[in-house]
Amino acid sequence: MAAAAERAKEAAALAAVRACVRPGLALALGTGTTAAYAVRAIATEFPRARFDCVASSRATEELARSVGLGVRPLAADDTFDLLIDGADEVTPQLDLTKGGGGALFREKLLAHLAREFAVVVDESKLVGALGERAPIPVEVVPFARPMLEREFAADGYRVGVRPGPRGDPYITDNGNEVLDLAPPTPLADPGRTAAALRARIGVVETGVFVGLASRAFVGRADGSVEERRPARRRAPAAR
Ligand code: A5P
Repeated sequence: MAAAAERAKEAAALAAVRACVRPGLALALGTGTTAAYAVRAIATEFPRARFDCVASSRATEELARSVGLGVRPLAADDTFDLLIDGADEVTPQLDLTKGGGGALFREKLLAHLAREFAVVVDESKLVGALGERAPIPVEVVPFARPMLEREFAADGYRVGVRPGPRGDPYITDNGNEVLDLAPPTPLADPGRTAAALRARIGVVETGVFVGLASRAFVGRADGSVEERRPARRRAPAAR
C-alpha cells in the first residue's frame, strides 16, 4: 500500500515537471514527500539546465542543493514562473489544505508570488470540501498558542498542538508553532474560514489555500496521472 502511494506521488511529480518546467525558469520549490519527488525530477529531467530557485523550507533547500539545483534566499522583487508543491487536500476548485509538513507560511508566500502553481498529489488527497480528511494547520506565535488553543476550541474545532520530534511542540522554520484544527464539519466557505482564523491575534498564517493553484497533477498507483484545472465555483445559494 505504501509502495503504491509512493508510485502515485512520483508519477504525479514527474508528470508536472514534464508538463510545466522548462530550462531557465524561476522556480519556487514546495515541501513534503511529493514535492521532493518533483525536486529530484527537475534535476534528472534537466541535468544541464540552470534554474533560479527559492525553496519553501530548509529541508527542501537541502534536498535541492544535494541534487545540484542552486537555491537562493527570497529577494525583494521576486516573482516565480512556477511553484510545484504538494497538498494534504484538493477540492474540485483546486482549493487546498497544506502544512502537513509544517511549511505552510513560506508555501503560501511563494504561491502568491508564482504565476503558475502546479499541485502534485496522489489520489487519496482528493476531497469534496476542505476539512474532510485533514485538519486545518495554523501557524501561530508560541506566546499566543495557549490562548489560541482555547479560542479555537470554543469555536468548535478539535485542537491539536503539532508535536515535534521529541514530543514537545513542533517549531517551524520561522520559529513558530502549529495548531491542527479539525473542524466540526467540512468547510462550506474556505475563504471565509481562512479569513476568520487569520483575524485572531497571534495567528501568522493558515494552511487554507483558496484560488491559488492553477493545475493539479493527480497520480494513481498504476502510474497514470490525471491533470485537473479548477472547476467553476457554484454560485452562493439564494437567501
Ligand atoms: C508541507 O508543509 C505541506 O504543505 C505538504 O506539501 C503537504 O503536507 C503534502 O505533503 P506530502 O506530499 O508529503 O503528502
